[in-house]
Amino acid sequence: MITRRGFLSHSTAMTTLALAPLNAQEKSAASKTQSRVMSGSSVAATVHPLASQAAVSMMAQGGNAIDAAIAASVYLSVVDGHNSGLGGGCLMLIRRSDGSLHAIDGREKAPASASKDMFFKNGVADVKLSQDGPLACGVPGLIAALHSAHSRFGKLPWGDLFVPAIRAAHDGCKVSRSNYNTIKAEQEVIKRFPASAKVLLKSDGSLYEIGETLIQRDLAKTLESIAKNGRDWFYQGEFAEQCASHLREQGGMLTLNDFKNYEAKDRPPVRTNYRGFQVVGFPTPSSGGIHIQQMLQILSRFPLKQLYEQGDSVNYYHVLGEAMKLAFADRAHYLGDSDFVEVPSFLTSMEYTDALAKRIDMEKSTRVPGHNDSKSNAIDDGKKHTTHMTTADRDGNWVALTATVNTSWGNKMIVPGTGVVLNDEMDDFSISPGVPNAFGLVGSRANAIEPGKRPLSSMSPTIVLDAMNEPSLTCGAAGGPRIINATLQTLLRCMDLGTSMGDAIAASRIHHQWQPDLLYCESSLGGPYSREGGSNNPIVESLKAKGHEVKLIGNIAIAQGIERAKKEPDGGVALIAACDPRGEGMAAVI
Ligand code: DON
Repeated sequence: MITRRGFLSHSTAMTTLALAPLNAQEKSAASKTQSRVMSGSSVAATVHPLASQAAVSMMAQGGNAIDAAIAASVYLSVVDGHNSGLGGGCLMLIRRSDGSLHAIDGREKAPASASKDMFFKNGVADVKLSQDGPLACGVPGLIAALHSAHSRFGKLPWGDLFVPAIRAAHDGCKVSRSNYNTIKAEQEVIKRFPASAKVLLKSDGSLYEIGETLIQRDLAKTLESIAKNGRDWFYQGEFAEQCASHLREQGGMLTLNDFKNYEAKDRPPVRTNYRGFQVVGFPTPSSGGIHIQQMLQILSRFPLKQLYEQGDSVNYYHVLGEAMKLAFADRAHYLGDSDFVEVPSFLTSMEYTDALAKRIDMEKSTRVPGHNDSKSNAIDDGKKHTTHMTTADRDGNWVALTATVNTSWGNKMIVPGTGVVLNDEMDDFSISPGVPNAFGLVGSRANAIEPGKRPLSSMSPTIVLDAMNEPSLTCGAAGGPRIINATLQTLLRCMDLGTSMGDAIAASRIHHQWQPDLLYCESSLGGPYSREGGSNNPIVESLKAKGHEVKLIGNIAIAQGIERAKKEPDGGVALIAACDPRGEGMAAVI
């Protein structure tokens, strides 16, 4: 139970900075009330303990799961800005207490003057330009999506949702391990942009150490302005003007009109029946919804539980890896923003997925040639950026929200005087057929750059309904293309093997993304995730014997999830929220 006073003690009026920060005693009490897996009647799981607390504090003061998710997301902009924030985008999947489902698309858009060869220099595609600096930035969508959700489904006043985040930015927050690691890794690029260096590095250019306090007063002011003036301040007013003019000075192409024309979009969710459950996913520009559906349909032809329980479960992992390979080959060829290209409906038809299932040979790994046989020599670097958060309340509102600035610290540019980190989401387009992006993903014309188009995403917020149409499970993850496979594997464990959400998230994972043609395995495969898995894992050896080219890696994605447990004796619903042991998150509940 969260009993902290700090976030809860104000009325619906926005009292922002008048709120006292938590004292040491409260902080230590709060940390004892959180753990990786927790149950309660209203719950939140995010990658940062204080963001989870910010979320449940909204529900404790009468808000719902939608308010809670928004508060968590803006809080993460402050304490976890390398992953997500106001200058990035998100995909938000909501199941409301009235049973309705909403997929709100806050994905970034290419500027109106973008063109398919904008990242070519002397005839060669230059991925640095799509990852760092002014051209890498798409029109941010996070605030538009959060505002769209709040204006229809929120309960608390918009300004209240920003109170914890404003305080964290104004008073300062402790530098986390991942803040530190990502600033350290990107410091040379950060130094190229003085406004970014001013916020993220000390005045002598050195790094803030883990646990030191990082104060972000400009970001606090920006959050206050959005809290007071709403989304238009961001898209029509001062922020848009400042951001567009700064990018123009630096050689970018995003304009004030690009901001003015941005709208979050409602999209029809993707639905699949799987062994008595209904799995609800996010449609394009996410590739996750379609490919999780496709893989579930392939895998429904195999007795997964039996395969898992046989011997060392090698056939279970084999069939999963083969399904992943087939799906990612289709992703590379067919998927793009469906506002611009036709994504064929046959991809998830029973006939087609049956044909794909028949291509799987249980004895050996099969090479999947792909549709245009494009090759990538890139090795997926396994870095994790992006963030998945999830909330659910006692009334049956559930939210699965994945947000990102793409790679760590986005395009590494902070808009001067605002504290806002901009995204590098243009890199999620296929900047040239066969040229891999930051995650080693290749694409085709379907995901080529066009003005106003949204780049293809792997973000996969997913909600699972039971036979009574009640929400039963939700999961999503961070980790580029690994998001799709981590979400799939977590949900399969819950649905096929009856594993709890906490254990399903903790279980070791595999990943295949077709190109490069490697089966990535966590070295603790077969057990719960552990950094210390040895190099002679028997399942991995059996997979190699089936012809898989295996690459052992530290970890695969960071997931968060919720499951609905049995009814409590008083008729209330017990919800269990779980954070991934691969990350630094803690769940919070009331
Ligand atoms: O939308 C996408 O697929 C990517 N921008 C997500 C980036 C991500 O997860 C980074 N993590 N490795």
